[in-house]
Order: sequence, then C-alpha cells, then structure tokens
Amino acid sequence: MDTYHVVLYIHLFALFIGIGAASVLLACLLQLRRAQTLAEAGPWGMVAGKVSRLFPIAILGLFGSGAYMTSDIWTWSTRWIDVSIAGLVVIALQGPLVAERTAHKLKHALQENGPGPLGGHARRMTRHPGLWVAEFTNIGLVLGIVWNMTEKPGIWSSIAAVVGGYAVGMALALPFTRSQEAELAPSPEPAA
Ligand code: HEM
Repeated sequence: MDTYHVVLYIHLFALFIGIGAASVLLACLLQLRRAQTLAEAGPWGMVAGKVSRLFPIAILGLFGSGAYMTSDIWTWSTRWIDVSIAGLVVIALQGPLVAERTAHKLKHALQENGPGPLGGHARRMTRHPGLWVAEFTNIGLVLGIVWNMTEKPGIWSSIAAVVGGYAVGMALALPFTRSQEAELAPSPEPAA
C-alpha cells in the first residue's frame, strides 16, 4: 500500500459521492415532473435541496485528490488531466449558476401555487431546461472525464470525450423539458 493508491481510493470515493447524489437528484426531478399537487412535489423538492449539498464535497474531493496524484507522478501539462480540469470547472459552475438558480425559482413557483393541484406555471417550472440540462450534461461530462482518466488519450480525443459527453447529456435532457398540453392541464381534485 502506498499513499498514491490511498489517494486514488479517495478520488474514486469522491466520484461515488457525486454519482450517488446525481442519481438521487434525478429521481427527485422525475418525481417533481410528474407531481400533480404541492403535497406530491414538496418532499421531492426538499430531498433535492438536501442531496445537492453533497456536490461541493464531491467536486473538492475529486480536485484535491486529483491534484495530489498529478503532482506526485504526473505533470500539470498532461493533456487528459488539463481537459478534465476544464470539464470539472464547467460542472462546478453549472451546478450553482444554472441548476441552483432554477431550483430557487421552482421553489418560489411552488410556494406561490400553494396547497392543492399544481397550476401551469409551477408544472412548467418542473420542466425548466435549467434543471434538466444541468443534470444530464453534468452526468455526461463526468462520464467523459472517467473515459479520459481511464484511457489517458491525447488532447483531441480528450476534448472529444468531454464535448461528446456534454452533447449526449443535452440530447437526453431535451425530451424532459418538453410538455404535452394534456400533461399541463390542471389535475382533477382528489375525492375527499
Ligand atoms: C469529474 C471529475 C473527475 C472524475 C470523474 C475522475 C475520475 C477518475 C477515475 C475513475 C480514475 C481512475 C482511473 C484509473 O485508475 O484507471 C481517476 C484517476 C486519476 N485522476 Fe481523476 N477524475 C476527475 C477529476 C480529476 C482531476 C480534476 C484531476 C487533476 C487535478 C484528476 C487526476 C487524476 C489522476 C492523476 C488519476 C490517476 C491516474 C492513474 O494513476 O492511472 N482527476 N480519475
């Protein structure tokens, strides 16, 4: 056992925290999207808010442990590392600047809606691209970076992996931002 491999373990541990949190967040977004009433949406919004607090830990853990390994036996001009750092910066920015801001707007829309069936504005907010595009493109970027970390390709292949991951994430997100008119119709009052 050497320090390098202990740090590699920490690196993977941070990755699992991030992937775990992103999976729970995806479940919350899916449930928010299909919620018909405030009572159905509320708990998922709360879980989403709590689980999102894990992302800074995952990002700092990945960067800190990655920086140690880079300084130990790699160099800061290693192409697959530089491209992956750029990808991690995009992930770190999209979270607070796009997803969190949209989540605050969704929270306000739900509060304004009040108890009972969700109106058009609140339901449209659950389909906001700021939530879905940030979630799926961040997962796509992470999977592109995992490719770079395991394959250690040259500059162009490294860029292709993260840009490709982002593009696939975007393509997967778009259907979730669309809503059929029927889906947005107010739901009938539940029987007393
Ligand atoms: C989302 C961000 C990241 C993810 C998903 C990620 C993922 C991974 C994975 C899965 C490995 C294991 C590869 C293997 O053992 O074959 C790894 C190793 C490594 N990562 Fe990262 N990483 C990320 C960010 C970073 C950053 C920002 C740095 C540098 C500052 C970095 C530097 C390294 C280094 C040096 C290794 C060791 C490579 C080896 O010894 O084979 N990583 N990473």
